[in-house]
Amino acid sequence: MRPGPVILVVGARPNFMKIAPLYEELKKRKIPQILLHTGQHYDDNMSQVFFDDLGMPKPDVYLGVGSGSHARQTANVMVEFEDICIKHNPSIAVVVGDVNSTVACALVCAKLCIPCAHVEAGLRSFDRKMPEEINRIITDSIADILLTPSPDGDENLRNEGVSEERIKRVGNIMIDSLLKNIERSKKSTIHNDLGISNDPYAVLTLHRPSNVDDEESFRRILAALESVGEKIPIVFPMHPRTKNRIEEFGLEQRVASIPNIVLSGPAGYLDFMALISNSHMVLTDSGGLQEETTALGIPCLTLRENTERPITVNEGTNKIVGNDTGIIISSAEEILSGRIETGRVPELWDGRTAIRIADIIVERITSQE
Ligand code: UD1
Repeated sequence: MRPGPVILVVGARPNFMKIAPLYEELKKRKIPQILLHTGQHYDDNMSQVFFDDLGMPKPDVYLGVGSGSHARQTANVMVEFEDICIKHNPSIAVVVGDVNSTVACALVCAKLCIPCAHVEAGLRSFDRKMPEEINRIITDSIADILLTPSPDGDENLRNEGVSEERIKRVGNIMIDSLLKNIERSKKSTIHNDLGISNDPYAVLTLHRPSNVDDEESFRRILAALESVGEKIPIVFPMHPRTKNRIEEFGLEQRVASIPNIVLSGPAGYLDFMALISNSHMVLTDSGGLQEETTALGIPCLTLRENTERPITVNEGTNKIVGNDTGIIISSAEEILSGRIETGRVPELWDGRTAIRIADIIVERITSQE
């Protein structure tokens, strides 16, 4: 019998909204749990504000690993997380998404024979140049319970030879957070704070290494934004990586002079939900935002060559446009002229995913007793 608590792992910004609903559900069921933050993201506006907005308590354990190369960051999480696992002997660990903290903790669990559940399993971009794709493949190959958001996830896992009993389709837990908080986000003052008028606007996020670490790609995207900005104001809350690259490449002046651009630092969860839910369109290279816009029915242009979330294209409002200047401009113009397909919300993106995951976890830990 494994007597220990459930460990819930968060590390980076896109993890927080995936763990919050599960934390709450397990708490309701009085399941002992440890909320562990690796510290991969550490700025208040990348981390603390999400705990506040999502009503999560201070983490029980904070590893404080911070930034570093992939090897260092992953290794540092592993070293620290191993000590915690040995100390607390968890009955199961839950990791989410595809960041370095996800794969690091899954690896530690596999070596210590601690059952590990992966939320958002099965997603594949089939692009191994993306660090997240490596994290996804490794995490799924060693985690015990693979909790998928959509049928394509099940299919990818089957194609990799994963046995049926490890695959559990539970839906999209990020949409639990979205549906729970959308009403509260209406109280946000972000529009006033950023001086955004009542006219239609677009929201832009950009942080993928393939877009912002490569100067040529970055410049192609900026050229597109200079044209799109002539037609619709663009609100751009900037990721720290992107800000660093802009400074490195000496692009500050060029970015600031994009017509009608509204620049800000990273937005908190409620402010960001307020921004996107009132926007006319979203341009992004984020994974989660492709799903949130599909759930909200807002047109999304994904500035990448591929997506690990094809259901947002096939059923939702997403279009993959890469970083070609002309294609970004013409796709934005299509949306502005009203020539857009409306999508539908995928099955099980219904706000009840945390309940389904909690059922599976409780069944698993009670069967171990
Ligand atoms: C990470 C994830 C990515 C996710 C993104 C969301 C990996 C491999 N990548 O990328 O999948 O989409 O988070 O934000 O795990 N920095 C700060 N303050 C912070 C955090 C980062 O200034 O709180 C800066 C540092 O200069 C750091 C850089 O951002 O080196 C990159 O951070 P890192 O965690 O390595 O990767 P992200 O680009 O944030």
